[in-house]
Amino acid sequence: MPLHPKLTDSPTGDRLAVNPLFTRSAERAEVPKYRLPTEPMLPETAYQLIHDELMLDGNARLNLATFVTTWMEPEADRLMAECCDKNMIDKDEYPQTAELEKRCVNMLSHLWNSPAGEAATGCSTTGSSEACMLGGLALKRRWRHQRRRAGQNTERPNLVMGINVQVCWEKFCNYWDVEPRYVPMAGERLHLSGVEAVKLCDENTIGVVAILGSTFDGSYEPVQEIASALDAFQEQTGIDIPIHVDGASGAMIAPFLEADLVWDFRLPRVASINTSGHKYGLVYPGVGWVVWRDAAALPEDLVFRVNYLGGDMPTFALNFSRPGAQVVAQYYNFLRLGFAGYRRIQKECRDVATYLAGKIARMGPFRLLTDGSELPVFAFVLREAVTHFTAFDISAGLRERGWQVPAYTFPKNREDICALRVVVRNGFSYDLADLLMADLTRLLARLDKQSAPRYDETDAAFHH
Ligand SMILES: Cc1ncc(COP(=O)(O)O)c(C=O)c1O
Repeated sequence: MPLHPKLTDSPTGDRLAVNPLFTRSAERAEVPKYRLPTEPMLPETAYQLIHDELMLDGNARLNLATFVTTWMEPEADRLMAECCDKNMIDKDEYPQTAELEKRCVNMLSHLWNSPAGEAATGCSTTGSSEACMLGGLALKRRWRHQRRRAGQNTERPNLVMGINVQVCWEKFCNYWDVEPRYVPMAGERLHLSGVEAVKLCDENTIGVVAILGSTFDGSYEPVQEIASALDAFQEQTGIDIPIHVDGASGAMIAPFLEADLVWDFRLPRVASINTSGHKYGLVYPGVGWVVWRDAAALPEDLVFRVNYLGGDMPTFALNFSRPGAQVVAQYYNFLRLGFAGYRRIQKECRDVATYLAGKIARMGPFRLLTDGSELPVFAFVLREAVTHFTAFDISAGLRERGWQVPAYTFPKNREDICALRVVVRNGFSYDLADLLMADLTRLLARLDKQSAPRYDETDAAFHH
């Protein structure tokens, strides 16, 4: 979350004016913004004040930047309202919520082909960021145990990943003193490859992160190829390096649309997998999941015990208290949609993504980096010949109509790429895609009359 400084002066003033129609005679017509008001106000007055301010938030359905769910069925809304007071950590008080969490973990571990006969284990989290932290911590602790048992130095752990990783991995390395080793992009290779990953591995590598798929362009990293490269590395050096698959989005897409893609626990080298329940798991923020293939992948000394029906229940989490509503909503989706329902929704998203990508490719000024055929996400750039407007002009122009289509530059070695990205989520229909195309067509006609770009990356507010 942003770190908020104490305000000494606010550009929009430090008082909230209360419309006289909403006040009763005894109420104040003004309240402070940054100090706790001295007196209470009526609930409907407080509601109206907050409701009015929130009008400035964007329209979530037009937000093509986020991967996060912006619509659920009314039945899910109802269940969430019924459960918003439940604390996930109170397993003893809310045993049935705990039971639903257990069912979700089991469903995911089957979906991701955890090996028969092995005790796969997992938990819910606040999102993929926490799930990745837990996955990374397990890698680090396992590496440390192995090194200590062998009487080896444990001072300099490192983690190998593509430079396209989401910021949560940078945070993991920073917070837990692990050296990040980023494989830069090169030429048309915009994510990690097996050959390049292995080049950065050594005896201090706690693991390799493979992303399904990349936040930058929606492409899948080749998990099987990375695993094979690490197999060969082990044969040559004796060093056994596990993989964590960051499937924040793709772990809820690939199982439904790509049965033949081998990326999960079918690969013995995959130690753990995370996903965001609140992305293609189709739940409102924030819920994530992480599953370890077997007991060896999650060292026992990372596990804490909480009271549960007079006994104790193993837990692994960064937070203590957390809302139970999202876990219940995840279970609702699993129960309601089943495999076929998820498949239908993910396929529709992918069909709309490839349809829209195809149309954008045919417009003329754009070149696709990806076409939405892996994640239902695609990225595109302006052709080199276009110099009188930028991707940032496009992003700003679409924003005038309410569309949020982020423009951003790529990382090291491909900083020259300035892309626009569209994330197709459940509810982004063919109709909305056509409306976006109509607005983009109108915008291009206007931008074509412009002699020089108006916006550049200093105007961009988008972060991965
Ligand atoms: C690949 C990847 N990993 C991790 C995250 C972080 O996920 P969350 O927002 O659920 O914490 C994201 C978010 O976009 C992502 O795309």
